[in-house]
Amino acid sequence: MVWVFDAYGTLWDVGCIEAAVAQARVPDSNRFLSLWRQKQLEYAFLRTLTGHYAPFSLVTRDALQYTLETVGVTLTANQEAALLDAWFHPQAFGDAKELLASLKGEGRWILSNGDPAMLDAGVDATGLRGCLEGYVSVDQVQRYKPHPETYRLAVAVAQASPEEVVFVSSNAWDVAGAARFGFRTVWVNRTGAALDRLGVEPWRVVPSLAAVKDRGCR
Ligand code: LAC
Repeated sequence: MVWVFDAYGTLWDVGCIEAAVAQARVPDSNRFLSLWRQKQLEYAFLRTLTGHYAPFSLVTRDALQYTLETVGVTLTANQEAALLDAWFHPQAFGDAKELLASLKGEGRWILSNGDPAMLDAGVDATGLRGCLEGYVSVDQVQRYKPHPETYRLAVAVAQASPEEVVFVSSNAWDVAGAARFGFRTVWVNRTGAALDRLGVEPWRVVPSLAAVKDRGCR
């Protein structure tokens, strides 16, 4: 079996980005963060739809600038750089390392929308480099998940067939894309969120990475 994981929000906690937003002292930091993340995804999707790829760090910067203008906040160049830098220094969720260690002997990969520099920094910052066979950025196909070419990239790199892959993500849209591609999917739904209505259901739903081992996912 080959395990393919999403990075941000799945293996990697984005709490450090929350902390950076809090440190920048923007008013209504929850709304700010949620608009920033929503725009970051929307821009990634729109760039894929329109065929105008740009690396995720640039998409993240563009989304930040839109958010700042929308909420009417001006930051110094250093404050802006600190917010963007946080995406390069995530922490692993507490149960990520143990899960990956328990899957030793099977293929363990990351497939992320993050660009190669973000992923290089992220696997070191999270201490997960040694627990993975590898990690792959959608940058190689210049399209963002959930475009099918991104999941095809994962099977090519991991040298697996789609039926052999269990794909794990906390993003319901990512799980839907992966399921459409033919992966078995595990949705890590930590917050009890409603399932996106995209006409396809996850194979398993778990409340944490720790539960991946216990819920018949293997
Ligand atoms: C990732 C983001 C989208 O691909 O979670 O890592």
